[in-house]
Amino acid sequence: MRAFKITSLFALAAIAVSACASAGGTGGDIKVAILAPLSGPVPTFGVSTRDGALQAIDEWNAKGGINGQKIVPIVEDSQCTPDPAVNAAHKVIDQDKVSFIIGEVCSKASIPVADYANSKKVIMMSPTSTATGVTVDQNGKVKDYIFRACFIDPFQGKVAAKFALDTLKAKTAFIMLDQSNDYVKGLAEAFEAAYTAAGGKIVGKENYTGKDTDFSTILAKVADAKPALVYLPDYYNVVNLVTKQAKEKGITAPFMGGDGWDSPDLDTKAADGGYYTNHYSPDDTSPTVVNFVKAYGAKYKDDKGQPKTPDALAALAYDAGNLLFTAIKNAGSTDTTKVKDALTKINYAGVSGKITYDANHNPVKSAVILHVTGGKVVFDSVVAP
Ligand code: PHE
Repeated sequence: MRAFKITSLFALAAIAVSACASAGGTGGDIKVAILAPLSGPVPTFGVSTRDGALQAIDEWNAKGGINGQKIVPIVEDSQCTPDPAVNAAHKVIDQDKVSFIIGEVCSKASIPVADYANSKKVIMMSPTSTATGVTVDQNGKVKDYIFRACFIDPFQGKVAAKFALDTLKAKTAFIMLDQSNDYVKGLAEAFEAAYTAAGGKIVGKENYTGKDTDFSTILAKVADAKPALVYLPDYYNVVNLVTKQAKEKGITAPFMGGDGWDSPDLDTKAADGGYYTNHYSPDDTSPTVVNFVKAYGAKYKDDKGQPKTPDALAALAYDAGNLLFTAIKNAGSTDTTKVKDALTKINYAGVSGKITYDANHNPVKSAVILHVTGGKVVFDSVVAP
């Protein structure tokens, strides 16, 4: 009888400890989910995001974790697509019992994941999702537990419009967009509003869908309209198809886009002459960027065994991890209500710039303009908010 009691007490204690650990409570490990599109239309986004986040996790663990607790990553392939992303969110929240998520990457997937995470008081830090609807609901109310490491599309669109008019002297533009993609739609709207307000003229606007591979009908209209610039704020997989077909059609107007162009798989030959807005440039000579690029290259190699250069997704995922872990440290707790309060007060110097949050949990920070030229992507300029 006595022996039985002792054993059952031990069993109870063991259950209590593991329950505490799995809830990310004090004493145990801190589980952090990384939801990244490792497969699907934009796999380079997933690989960079995972690797940037893991670099931050490894650095913190090497220093002893957060307040003595080790960080344990749980990586899920969320595919840049709402349904698989929401399924991955259910898996990590309901089964793995994580309290913290880094991800998703694509705004269209991040919006429904944010809604679920917020309803469960799970903190979600999207490194890269720039659509406004990620951190605020349809009534404009901030989602208390949702943050991001990147600027938002109203700013990104304005930066592109200003650059098109003031630097490229492009007074006419043609917009191509996929209405079903929250990111593409929001960025196209932001560009159009800022461009026309500053005196630019939209000479054509055409929709396609995410499944299209033949853009000849739209490109014939572009050729007719003869714009000074074509604005194409989509991801690199679509940009590769469209710019290749445009070159074949003899269209010489430069294409311009947003952060979605950022990929080692961007076809720099097809997109030659193009420009895009982005979050950071690995050519930045500030010590924070130089150190990050060096450490990342030492850890990750390309197919030829050469050090990988971190793209914006890797940089933002690294910043996202550091923001989250610094907030947990500052809160002195893994209680997500305390951690979200610590995040709203944070002042963090990241690789992608200095981060403090506005009332809608959006960082206010600079953008860079990059130029696709001679088979490479080169830094053009920085634009402050
Ligand atoms: N901003 C994009 C989105 O919201 C994601 C992205 C960010 C892609 C940075 C590439 C680089 O969907």
